[in-house]
Amino acid sequence: MKNTEGMLQPGALKDRNIIVTGGGTGLGKAMTRYFLQLGARVVITSRKLDVLEATAKELEAETGGKCVALHCDVKSYDEVEAMVNKAIEALGSVDILVNNAAGNFISPTERLSANAFKSIIDIVLNGSINCTLALGKIWIAQKQTNKVVLNMSTTYSWTGSGFVVPSATAKAGVLAMTRSLAVEWARYGIRMNAIAPGPFPTKGAWDRLAPGDFKERFDLIKRVPLRRAGEHQELANLAAYLVSDYSAYINGEVVTIDGGEWLQGAGEFSMFEGVKPEEWDFIESMTRKAKSE
Ligand code: HXC
Ligand code: NAP
Repeated sequence: MKNTEGMLQPGALKDRNIIVTGGGTGLGKAMTRYFLQLGARVVITSRKLDVLEATAKELEAETGGKCVALHCDVKSYDEVEAMVNKAIEALGSVDILVNNAAGNFISPTERLSANAFKSIIDIVLNGSINCTLALGKIWIAQKQTNKVVLNMSTTYSWTGSGFVVPSATAKAGVLAMTRSLAVEWARYGIRMNAIAPGPFPTKGAWDRLAPGDFKERFDLIKRVPLRRAGEHQELANLAAYLVSDYSAYINGEVVTIDGGEWLQGAGEFSMFEGVKPEEWDFIESMTRKAKSE
């Protein structure tokens, strides 16, 4: 058994129809591959149809599953509605939505134009709202049940983070939506959860968050207590579990998968990790001495 292997039983997502936004690249592609392997049919959607079509072709050949590429800019509610209707046409119905599409880049906030800030909010927050609302309206009006929404969050949804402020602001909103609708829509048979990943190397994220020599100067991996990045299959395993019926009683949860990264950053004394054993001998004598003074 390895962490880079699929975790669920074969057929765990059989006959489930899934929309993955941003499914042509990175983590969206990794989740899509695993969903297909588990027997789901998947619509992948984003702005670059050529990228989506290449991914769909590759993953269909690899898994033998059905993967449909549909163009959609999630910023536009009209485009989202049209995409959802086409997905229903292609698959018959939709059971699961994965709000994975995102935009992000590092920048001091005062350097951003209003439009730069708005662009990220529109993709991440409004994009997730648009897809959730368009599908939720159909599910509720047609009294369809056993539906699931999975949102890609981040650990800075609750800690906040400098230099990615539009993303942090938007992802915090996504988390609030997750928890709010998990309660409000449970009565319609809709569950809603989120994943907060730590660093999982993808071209999309690394080009924008660790450009040039930032990879060496600010090594993200050093911030992770387990001293490694996440494996895409580890995230795909968690996502597949959270959208499957195995997690039927999990609702309104955000599951962190970050090797302990955010807690290390939060712990006030975590920087003592580099103190050597012989130094601890000396420190212990000092701290014990404090008792008698
Ligand atoms: C400052 C910038 C900028 C930059 C764009 N803008 N890049 N400002 N620094 N690096 C400004 C533009 O000048 C413009 O403002 C506004 O932002 C919109 O830019 P466009 O290029 O017109 O937008 P668009 O074509 O929609 O592209 C969106 C994008 C782009 C976010 C800027 O990078 C993109 O397509 N990203 C998608 C993939 C992605 O970001 N993946 C990373 C996900 S990682 P003006 O005022 O000039 O009009 C993630 C979490 C990772 O989410 C956490 C890791 C631990
Ligand atoms: P990625 O490969 O860049 O994925 C982002 C996807 O979003 C792309 O496929 C992109 O496709 C799509 N997208 C962007 N704008 C869109 C729009 N307006 N409409 C529709 N689709 C759009 O990055 P990733 O690393 O895999 O990130 C996937 C998710 O994980 C994101 O939600 C991200 O915030 C989250 N996350 C990642 C990490 C990490 O370490 N990688 C950590 C924490 C959270 P197009 O360009 O074709 O539109």
